[in-house]
Amino acid sequence: MKKDLVSIKDLSSGEIKEIFSLTTKLKENKVRFRKALAGKTLALVFQKPSNRTRVSFEVGMYQLGGNSIYLAPHEINLGVRESVKDVAKTLSRYVEGIVVRTFSHGIVVDMARYADVPVINGLSDFSHPCQALADIFTVQEKIRNRKNIVFSYVGDGNNVCNSLIFTCAKLGIPIHLGIPKGYGPQRDVLLEAAQTAGAKAGSIQLFSSAARAVKSADVIYTDVWASMGQEKESRTRKLKFKDFQVNRQLLLYAKKDVLVMHCLPAHRGEEITDEVMESRHSIVFDQAENRMHVQKAILIKLLGGEDK
Ligand code: CP
Ligand code: NVA
Repeated sequence: MKKDLVSIKDLSSGEIKEIFSLTTKLKENKVRFRKALAGKTLALVFQKPSNRTRVSFEVGMYQLGGNSIYLAPHEINLGVRESVKDVAKTLSRYVEGIVVRTFSHGIVVDMARYADVPVINGLSDFSHPCQALADIFTVQEKIRNRKNIVFSYVGDGNNVCNSLIFTCAKLGIPIHLGIPKGYGPQRDVLLEAAQTAGAKAGSIQLFSSAARAVKSADVIYTDVWASMGQEKESRTRKLKFKDFQVNRQLLLYAKKDVLVMHCLPAHRGEEITDEVMESRHSIVFDQAENRMHVQKAILIKLLGGEDK
């Protein structure tokens, strides 16, 4: 049966660990996997702009011996020119996998329901699973042999935040959220993730103060205050989030060697200062690079390539 990656909820902790272990192999030995997806094609159906997601998937497919086709918003015109169901059924006759970047999460769910080939969520309003997997892989790559790390997320309770919460819950990583009141993740995300995390007290903690959320943190993560599609709220959000900027002062509350992460694109001077982006703490470009390595592992797992 085909397997989709619509949300982190689709993966068991064992499957996440398998993806990470394959990622390590892929990083170590590019040559060995250069024909892993030979003859296979990936379609990228995007309703929003992208740099990292598009390029890392396209280059990743190429490096695995496969091919990719990027379909910009105006080409497929999902749900307007043609229904999601008909797009899914048609593309399934041509390609071996579909990446979808969309506004409504329901579109990714429907695409997965109707496609006969694996569907990967390349970002929806609810979730950004490939991002979170690459992020936590990066954390584990950078912080080895340290137990009980504290991962702090500061900013908007958005798609990236949801996926990080689920990934941390699955892997038993405590996550501390510093989010202004009214912008937190949906209650059911917190409840479901808490259930997944199990009895471990304090696994997921929500604070309305950035300083409290990053206390003794090993990692501070942030994302834009207004996501794609929320541009009209930008001004209001800048006011609501002004005390949640990742800056030099905030880093003083965390561990001395705290790592700073951002999924990018960043709005320097808003959610993160230029100074912190350029500091020794920042690992944002290692994180961006790992998008490609982790996605190659996901592609091999889902599109049925050789993974030995
Ligand atoms: N982080 C991320 O998904 O970047 P893009 O929007 O550029 O793809
Ligand atoms: N939360 C951001 C992430 C971009 C990668 C957005 O949805 O625009």
